[in-house]
Amino acid sequence: MTQFPGFPHRGFPEGWFSVGWSDEFKSGAIEYRRYFGIDLVLFRTESGRLVASSAYCPHMGARLDVGGKISGECITCPFHRWQWTADGDNANIPYADKTVNAKLRTYPVKESAGIVWFWNSWRSEEPTSDAPDCDFVMSEEYFHDPVASRRLWSNVRLVPQMVAENIVDGPHTEFVHLADEGAHIANIEIDGTVFLSELDQTYRSGKGPIKGKSFNYSYGVGTQLSKMQFGDYRVVNILSTTPIEEDRCDMRATIFIGLPVEIEQPRSAAYLPPKLQKLIKSHLDSQEQDLPIWETMIYEPKPLLVGEEIRGHVKMRKWAKQFYEA
Ligand code: FES
Ligand SMILES: [Fe+2]
Repeated sequence: MTQFPGFPHRGFPEGWFSVGWSDEFKSGAIEYRRYFGIDLVLFRTESGRLVASSAYCPHMGARLDVGGKISGECITCPFHRWQWTADGDNANIPYADKTVNAKLRTYPVKESAGIVWFWNSWRSEEPTSDAPDCDFVMSEEYFHDPVASRRLWSNVRLVPQMVAENIVDGPHTEFVHLADEGAHIANIEIDGTVFLSELDQTYRSGKGPIKGKSFNYSYGVGTQLSKMQFGDYRVVNILSTTPIEEDRCDMRATIFIGLPVEIEQPRSAAYLPPKLQKLIKSHLDSQEQDLPIWETMIYEPKPLLVGEEIRGHVKMRKWAKQFYEA
């Protein structure tokens, strides 16, 4: 496996990682995904339960999404029609009297804020931390459009920790994201697997610079939930980076905007006032601005840090070590 140049850790970090948006997984459908160097399928049973499992049937190794079917709460393999339950137990063999005591490997998944979270760990099959706490964005106060408020960047060359380190990197906001001046770290708090950086930021707007604040929570290294407030605007950005291989990831941004009280929940983003449509687009665009840098840089394990950079980067790198085996 190709290690990212300079990155000091091997393997995949532990934590909850986004493997898609809930509405990509329709009841009765089986979707193939490759993450963490594993071929996976995600399927939704007829009752609506979402399941992640190995893509390969334990009988003779057929790929379950290639001709497989969902029947009730089970997945049926295309090759010899063995059936497996949502918990991975063998439920039926059409040409045998008894089932076998074998397991289709399944993985913990959760859904919140319309995002599917997958537990990856090198030490514990059961989750040892909570999935990102993002249910609050489902309230009527927030708006999200399943098309206009999301963006996926597939198979990009980076490791999740580089994206996590962005939340303590104040100076780059001026040079990469065209903030009016670099952000400053007002506070850092660490609570187990959650790292919070509170930034004082100056956002650009049509009316000139606006001072604001952002609260950026990194859930493990794979997800950064940012709550931003500037002027009358409130924006929540959930940015999630999921390894495919050691040096390649899918990155997903999901934006929720706080609706001003006078605006009723619109049917889609096209019904929002233009300035709010622009707000969504500019936040998605800003996620893209780091990509040419990440995709071509090396990871510097001993960076030359100055001034405000020192506190944030040293704390984050020390905190992040807990997610790796080596
Ligand atoms: S390989 Fe799946 S039933 Fe035989
Ligand atoms: Fe950035």
